[in-house]
Amino acid sequence: MINPAEIKIRNLSIEYKKAKKGFVKAIENINLDIPRNKITMIIGPSGCGKSTLLKSINRLHDINEEVSVQGSLEINGEDIYYSGRPVPELRRRVGLIHQKPVPLPLSIFKNIAYGLKIHNNIHKDEVERRVIEALKKVHLWDEVKDRLDSPAIALSLGQQQRLSIARAIAIKPEVLLCDEITSALDPISSGKIEQLLVTLSEDYTIVWVSHILRQVRRMADYVVFLYMGRMVECGEKEQFFEDPQDSLTQNYIRGLFT
Ligand SMILES: Nc1ncnc2c1ncn2[C@@H]1O[C@H](COP(=O)(O)OP(=O)(O)OP(=O)(O)O)[C@@H](O)[C@H]1O
Ligand SMILES: [Mg+2]
Repeated sequence: MINPAEIKIRNLSIEYKKAKKGFVKAIENINLDIPRNKITMIIGPSGCGKSTLLKSINRLHDINEEVSVQGSLEINGEDIYYSGRPVPELRRRVGLIHQKPVPLPLSIFKNIAYGLKIHNNIHKDEVERRVIEALKKVHLWDEVKDRLDSPAIALSLGQQQRLSIARAIAIKPEVLLCDEITSALDPISSGKIEQLLVTLSEDYTIVWVSHILRQVRRMADYVVFLYMGRMVECGEKEQFFEDPQDSLTQNYIRGLFT
C-alpha cells in the first residue's frame, strides 16, 4: 500500500532574481496544508504563481540558480528543503506531470521502464510487471498492448498524457503534481484523465493546477485561490464555491476576471 503524504507549507516565498525588473516575487508568504489522499486544486489568474508554487513541492527550482525559495515545506513531517536531502529521492516521491506530454524518443515500453531503471534498482522481470501494471492503471494497456515496441511519439496526445501519468506512477510516488494536464487535450481525452485522477486520489495526494473552473467544480476536494503571488483563500470545495469569504474570490468565481 502506498503511503500518501501530507504537505505543510509555511511562510513560503519564492523570488525570480535577475528578471528584467530586478526581481519578481512570484510567491509571497504562503501558509497551506495539503491533505492526504485528496485532490487539492490551485486556481488563479495567469501569472499568479500557480506553477511556481507547484514546482517548489519537488524542488524543481533547484535547477535554476536565479530562484530563491524561502520558508519551509514539509512532506510527512520532513522538511524537503533541508540541505542534506537527496533531491533525486525526493523526485521519486513527488512526481510532476506537465501541461504537454513530452514522451522520450523511445518505445512505449521504454518510456516507462526508463524511469523505473533510474529510480528503482529492480530486476528486469519486475520492470516488465510494473510497466504493465502502470499501463493498466491508466487504462492504456488495451490500446497499446500489441505495440509496446512502437515509438511513444506515435500515440495520440491524450494517450501520450496517460503515458506520462503511467510513467509517473510506475515509480510509486506519494504525491502527484499536475500542471494544467488536460489543457492541451480534446474533451474526450480530458474526461478520461479526470476519471483516472479520481481513482488515483485513493492512493496519492494530488496537487493540481487548473484554470478551468468547471473542472475544479467537478474534480476538487480542496481549492486554493492565488492572486498575485498571495493565497487569498482556501477551503473545501463546497464551502469555497458556495460561501467564498473574500471579495476577490467571489469575483473570480463569478468570472468577473480571469
Ligand atoms: N523563470 C522565470 N524567470 C522570471 N520570472 C518568472 C519565471 N517563471 C515565472 N516567472 C514569473 O513569476 C510569476 C508567476 O509565474 P507562474 O508561471 O508561476 O504563474 P502561473 O500562475 O502558473 O501562470 P499561468 O496560468 O500563465 O501558467 C509571473 O510574474 C512570471 O512572469
Ligand atoms: Mg502555470
